[in-house]
Amino acid sequence: MINYKDLGLVNTRDMFAKAVAGGYAIPAFNFNNMEQLQAIIMAAAETKSPVILQVSKGARNYANQTLLRYMAEGAVQYAKELGWENPQIVLHLDHGDSFELCKSCVDMGFSSVMIDASSLPYEENIALTRKVVEYAHKYDVTVEAELGVLAGVEDEVAAEESHYTRPEEVIDFATRTGCDSLAISIGTSHGAYKFKPEQCTRDPKTGLLVPPPLAFDVLHEIEKKLPGFPIVLHGSSSVPQEYVKMINEHGGKLPDAVGIPEEQLREASKSAVCKINIDSDSRLAMTAAVRKVFADKPGEFDPRKYLGPARDEMKKLYMHKIVNVLGSNGKA
Ligand code: G3H
Ligand code: 13P
Ligand code: ZN
Repeated sequence: MINYKDLGLVNTRDMFAKAVAGGYAIPAFNFNNMEQLQAIIMAAAETKSPVILQVSKGARNYANQTLLRYMAEGAVQYAKELGWENPQIVLHLDHGDSFELCKSCVDMGFSSVMIDASSLPYEENIALTRKVVEYAHKYDVTVEAELGVLAGVEDEVAAEESHYTRPEEVIDFATRTGCDSLAISIGTSHGAYKFKPEQCTRDPKTGLLVPPPLAFDVLHEIEKKLPGFPIVLHGSSSVPQEYVKMINEHGGKLPDAVGIPEEQLREASKSAVCKINIDSDSRLAMTAAVRKVFADKPGEFDPRKYLGPARDEMKKLYMHKIVNVLGSNGKA
């Protein structure tokens, strides 16, 4: 049993309270490899932004859970080396789907866990979330829960039907579970294809898809029911069209990939939304940079020569999100 405090990590409690009061959101970036982690830490250290490092169940299986935990511990030291005196870094389990998985993360030094029981019936969601909260809180680990169903793929679970979070349920859910933050469904979804073309309109000038707006009315109703309670948005990649173009121009095939417009995320950050999850945009940045090197320099075979540019592109993306979208720069 290792406690996150011994690793130099922090939980989300104070971080979220400050973000809600200050009208900004904390970036939650997924990682499963060294270059992503380096880019996240460089961007956070340079902008002095609190940051949440997210590990999905799939990432644990891919990279090995122990290795990822040591990488996060190393990230704290690396941040200090970069001149960030008091790094505010959370290590968070993304979309935990069982008590055992959440417990294992608490026991190995995670400072925050998500129990995603949103696909279960309401009472079962409450019971499982409550069980995780009771365990995690013994070690001062904070817990994110989810109410409502996002479209798309949530860690190998594909939801055919999405439905918005019902504001009339949130007080009961938050009170009975004791969760520290709540992920809600207001129209975001996971992956690079957040909307079907038939759900969108098309910009006549560019021919690009314009997605339907997020349900801000639902968000505001939830905020009224739970004043100051930390709200989380999953599926918040914007799917930057310059990366989609770069990928498609260099042998890729991502037709009609579309995400959440950044202005809407900026707007959401000013509300009780205090954590915004971004994974797909980093995947796109990395893929675009790697494809470009492969196309421009077919003789290149040193991984540092294509993963290095990929890391630079991801760092640029993370800094942009922190400064121009979430507004968390200078808050740590
Ligand atoms: O919400 C899903 C995250 O983007 C993690 O994705 O399960 O493929 O690692 P993954
Ligand atoms: P994106 O697929 O939009 O990046 O969402 C990531 C996410 O919600 C991770 O939990
Ligand atoms: Zn998610």
